[in-house]
Amino acid sequence: MRTAICETLGCEVPIFAFSHCRDVVAGVTRAGGFGVLGGSTFTPEQFARELDWIDEHTGDGPYGVDVLVPSTYDARADVPPEELERLIPQEHRDFLDAILAEHGVPELPPEERTRLRRELAAGRGAMTPDGARRLVDIALTHPRVGLVASALGTPPPDVVAQVHEQGRLIGALCGRARHAEKHVAAGVDLVVAQGTEAGGHTGDITTMVLVPDVVAAVAGRAAVVAAGGITHGSQVAAALAMGAQGVWTGTVWLGTRESELDDFERRRVIETPAEGTVRGRARTGKTVRMIRSALSDAWEAPGAPAVLPTPLQGVLYNEAHARVVRARADGLFSFPVGQSVGAVRGETTVAEVMYRLQEELGEALERLGGLS
Ligand SMILES: Cc1cc2nc3c(=O)[nH]c(=O)nc-3n(C[C@H](O)[C@H](O)[C@H](O)COP(=O)(O)O)c2cc1C
Repeated sequence: MRTAICETLGCEVPIFAFSHCRDVVAGVTRAGGFGVLGGSTFTPEQFARELDWIDEHTGDGPYGVDVLVPSTYDARADVPPEELERLIPQEHRDFLDAILAEHGVPELPPEERTRLRRELAAGRGAMTPDGARRLVDIALTHPRVGLVASALGTPPPDVVAQVHEQGRLIGALCGRARHAEKHVAAGVDLVVAQGTEAGGHTGDITTMVLVPDVVAAVAGRAAVVAAGGITHGSQVAAALAMGAQGVWTGTVWLGTRESELDDFERRRVIETPAEGTVRGRARTGKTVRMIRSALSDAWEAPGAPAVLPTPLQGVLYNEAHARVVRARADGLFSFPVGQSVGAVRGETTVAEVMYRLQEELGEALERLGGLS
């Protein structure tokens, strides 16, 4: 099954897979899809190493990268990422510590905390406007990177121009048709219409409603792919029927053996039903769909301190998350997943998921072909 975007990017099937894990990205590309590596947590050096590794493990196949080029950056621009910790109010630290203590989650051992803080600060640089641009520079030195995608707003003109000069496509996520119009006006080639069902930063319109609206708004000036809730081949058929040229997936890969999750985290994903997610600002300061837990609920409860602006809320949350995972604290675990987490019912592999999606797509098309 090839669509126009497959011809442009050189993949065999219009299945895009977003992941922070190089094994998933390489596996999807090897299976004929289009893996997209999320770069937001890597230092430039790590990111370069990940892309080198993907180059070595994908044969000739194309892949993409996704960076968060924030259209607005809320932290004080004069504070380097490694010093953001000191901007976090003590009230917020005490609030989080109290919840963790209530659930018996211990502090990290001091040396682990120091290492984690150093790692998080180093990776956090990727979420600043300059840091994201450094990742784009690195991505463009890799010839098989066919797409640079950007979440959190329309990519700035210099990034669009730079990507185009190198003959690559630029993509952007959107949750509203009017965002898609802005993207296209800025020169975006691939619009990811991401419904509220999706894991990660997401808006409030469903995929089913959003995709036709975005297809109409874009009016052939860019390719549209559908994201949010897609784990079955029948949904790929539905996306194509709505005028999308493919699908963009995230949650389904969290159940694969190749993903970045450890056994505890994967078990929590597999146990979470479709109704077990919530949209909240506890993780990053912006609205993220994630597994609902006592930790995500606490920030929405009356009397909770106001959520901090991005990226400070993430600085606060990431350390708490590391404590929760280390303590295997089931009831506090919140990780970005979409509602399709309910369909992730056991450990799989990337190859199995790719095969199943295509088989189910074939069946769906056959069913439709039988209708008069
Ligand atoms: C764990 C996780 C992390 C994500 N992080 C990002 C990110 O850094 N940048 C981004 O553009 N999208 C991110 N997303 C959203 C995906 O790109 C994609 O749009 C979404 O997963 C599709 O919906 P689905 O989760 O229902 O498959 C993330 C999704 C998940 C599940």
